[in-house]
Amino acid sequence: MNQVDYLRISLIDRCNFRCQYCMPEGAEIDYILKQQLLTDEELLTLIAEVFIPVGFTRFRLTGGEPLLRPHVVELVRAIASFSQTQDLSMTTNGFLLAPIAQNLYDAGLRRINISLDSLEPDTFDQIIGNRGRGRWEQVWQGIQAAHRVGFDPLKLNVVVIPGVNDHEVLDLAALTLDRNWHVRFIEFMPIGNWQLFGDRGWVSSAQLRQQIRDRWGLTDSQVRGNGPADIFQIPGAKGTLGFISQMSECFCDRCNRMRLSADGWLRPCLLNETGQLDLKTALRSGVSTAQLQEQVRHLLAIKPEINFKGRESGTTGIYSRTMSQIGG
Ligand code: GTP
Ligand code: 5AD
Ligand code: SF4
Repeated sequence: MNQVDYLRISLIDRCNFRCQYCMPEGAEIDYILKQQLLTDEELLTLIAEVFIPVGFTRFRLTGGEPLLRPHVVELVRAIASFSQTQDLSMTTNGFLLAPIAQNLYDAGLRRINISLDSLEPDTFDQIIGNRGRGRWEQVWQGIQAAHRVGFDPLKLNVVVIPGVNDHEVLDLAALTLDRNWHVRFIEFMPIGNWQLFGDRGWVSSAQLRQQIRDRWGLTDSQVRGNGPADIFQIPGAKGTLGFISQMSECFCDRCNRMRLSADGWLRPCLLNETGQLDLKTALRSGVSTAQLQEQVRHLLAIKPEINFKGRESGTTGIYSRTMSQIGG
């Protein structure tokens, strides 16, 4: 059985973009009210007194957009300072990253995954919901800053949507030729975006790999992922290509993670809402962290049965939440 030692922590459910595939413009989203968010202190208590004692050692900060969370650098510093923390990473849209990249690194963040769905500013604007001109350039500056500061690995996430950005797959893959970056192509999932998904559908990783293989060839890389990505490399390239294929393959049996939402729900699976625990309410009503450890241990024990197993039906299910609410 897989060891589940990786916690994805959503710091906030809000975002400064409206990516069509994640929280499309016009989608009705019940944002978490400020008083319902886990406070910094509650979050750190849960990590130190519940998650670390039951065996979590790897933490990823997500959102919405995690850089919108006040005191994010201080949170990074506090989580990095726990002696048991072996890995601390973040998934961000990169828009606010450039000025804060060095501070994040100095505070102890080491790995960063940045969404970059297009190299064309106009296409990018369209994907992120036309939030104002110049956003692509600012995100690119964020990526350059992350590179300069020394984040390693630096991963770029591309959700491929037919007719929107699939014509850029080779250009995006080419970023790895002379840079030590990991470009990951993610199969588009129908979560909170049924209209776009219905209109556009999705492209399988196998098709993308064929396109890349036809152009440059493709080898299995020596670098093994510890997450859902299958990793390949263009022969001679400095960087790698990852493929996250949750639509065409089931990787749930190697799942090593749970998710903590910004309002304190612990979710054992991205695609199945069974078993989730409301840790914030428990904490606020005086349940001891020792009791919470027991509840989380139980959830860890039953996680293999909860892991999503709906692939046979060819769907990923129907969700009441958007990816921004679940934490990506
Ligand atoms: P590392 O391997 O630690 O770099 O993390 P990661 O690749 O899981 O992180 P990231 O936040 O960049 O996630 C990329 C995408 O992978 C997500 O947006 C999801 O589409 C997909 N993904 C991540 N975790 C899961 C999971 O548990 N289940 C499924 N079905 N998809 C996931
Ligand atoms: N399908 C696949 N990946 C998605 N993400 C957000 N929504 C979807 C979706 N519908 C990814 C983004 C980001 C990460 C947090 O989640 O690319 O990198
Ligand atoms: Fe885009 Fe991430 Fe924001 Fe969703 S949470 S809109 S994927 S940046």
